[in-house]
Amino acid sequence: MRVCVIGTGYVGLVTGVCLSHIGHDVICVDNNEEKVKLMQSGQSPIYEPGLSELMKSSSESGRLQFTSDLAKGVEQGEILFIAVGTPPLPTGESDTRYVEAVARGIGANLNGSGYKVIVNKSTVPIGSGDWVRMIVLDGVKERQKASSVATNAEATIEPNFDVVSNPEFLREGSAVYDTFNPDRIVLGSNSEKAIAMMKELYEPLVSREFAEDKSLPPVPVVVTDLSSAEMIKYAANSFLATKISFINEIANICDRVGADVTQVAKGIGLDSRIGSKFLNAGIGWGGSCFPKDVSALIHTADDYGYNAELMKAAVNVNIRQRSIALEKLQHELKILKGKTIGLLGLTFKPDTDDMRDAPALNLIEQLNRLGAKVKAYDPIVSQSGLSHGLSGVIIETNAEMLADGCDALVLVTDWKEFLKLDYSKMAKLMTHPVIIDGRNFLDREALEAVGLRYLGIGR
Ligand code: UDX
Ligand code: UDX
Repeated sequence: MRVCVIGTGYVGLVTGVCLSHIGHDVICVDNNEEKVKLMQSGQSPIYEPGLSELMKSSSESGRLQFTSDLAKGVEQGEILFIAVGTPPLPTGESDTRYVEAVARGIGANLNGSGYKVIVNKSTVPIGSGDWVRMIVLDGVKERQKASSVATNAEATIEPNFDVVSNPEFLREGSAVYDTFNPDRIVLGSNSEKAIAMMKELYEPLVSREFAEDKSLPPVPVVVTDLSSAEMIKYAANSFLATKISFINEIANICDRVGADVTQVAKGIGLDSRIGSKFLNAGIGWGGSCFPKDVSALIHTADDYGYNAELMKAAVNVNIRQRSIALEKLQHELKILKGKTIGLLGLTFKPDTDDMRDAPALNLIEQLNRLGAKVKAYDPIVSQSGLSHGLSGVIIETNAEMLADGCDALVLVTDWKEFLKLDYSKMAKLMTHPVIIDGRNFLDREALEAVGLRYLGIGR
């Protein structure tokens, strides 16, 4: 099928590349020309395991193109994905101006070249499906008006399209894997024709042709109305964020009563009604989705006169959790002014270069405010030399240089390579051999054996 993906951020690029890999002809559109040039030269603008390899093979096969020309993308695609960002506004609502610009642009470029399915992949406020339809129609009208003025005749393009909501559930760091091994595919629309085309598009994924385990039953396809599909995305992320806040709250109680939250998580997670995933206590959830989506759902509820108390509590627990490492540092070192703190990891989770709403940013800000010197080593940020606009932190190129002269280390991101560091050597380089394991990730006994004082979260 002919697919156009508009917006090549984490979601758009992974979606475009994976759809071309499973056999579709994909054109990816982005209004950032520099990014487009980079992708045309075969390079991925983001770090995502497996993505570069697929990008290369799909480009070579001729099934994947990149352009900044929206008109060309709209012309070529029969299925048009809107995958631009919807960042949070200070009020908590999503900023939908990019979705609006793209929807208007699609409308302005619909030139009667056949039926199109317009797919909302971006996480948009509930009810946006109908709004997108309206904006596309506005775009069509504006163009018709302009062309009738120019030619002094009535333009006669009949827009022929339907809108589908198809939320994504990709985790950064395993987005390619998640695309080929989805738990479910959600399609929201009132158009049978559009749903049928979307099912055809995803058939190779539904039949597990590209899955790790091909013997599994087909991927469930959940077909709903537009608003329910949009709500599924918010409800899924809000549930997961609440689950983490729950275990973080249990961790804080464990700290006080002397229990170990990792054992508690194991004990409750084995109950199939609870499940063991997303029960890792730590210094809080971040990233481009959880904070934004939970706030947006709270905001939507408020708009409709409902006080979403549980989700507000999940957010508040998370805000408090972001200070847990600081509290532990103060307890250990007392005065932080003039102390040197080393952060192991900066990104909001491992296997990504994404710093959006990363807990590390709060920690850096809090430590700076208290007069501590902050250093950090992150496998991606240090290696790529990406500064990410970071201030108040010295970026070291390896973990030993980080440890040198530190009064304490804080593990912020659970990068696998942190399991294999030479902690014995690092302990000797530190002024005070203290480590706070903000993800309960390291082997406590091994660290204590090399002379480090180990403090986890809720253990
Ligand atoms: C995606 C979703 O679409 C968002 O709604 C979801 O909640 C998280 O994942 P993300 O992939 O993180 O967002 O977006 P981002 O990294 O901000 O990239 C968006 C891309 O769209 C950028 O490359 C930008 O240049 C491009 N863009 C933006 C356009 O091509 N046109 C525009 O008008 C605006
Ligand atoms: C999330 C959703 O999982 C995905 O389905 C959605 O569509 C996009 O948002 P992502 O933000 O990439 O994915 O990462 P995720 O693995 O969900 O982690 C989010 C945050 O929660 C990270 O900061 C992570 O460190 C934290 N986390 C996760 C915990 O603190 N404990 C856990 O048990 C799991």
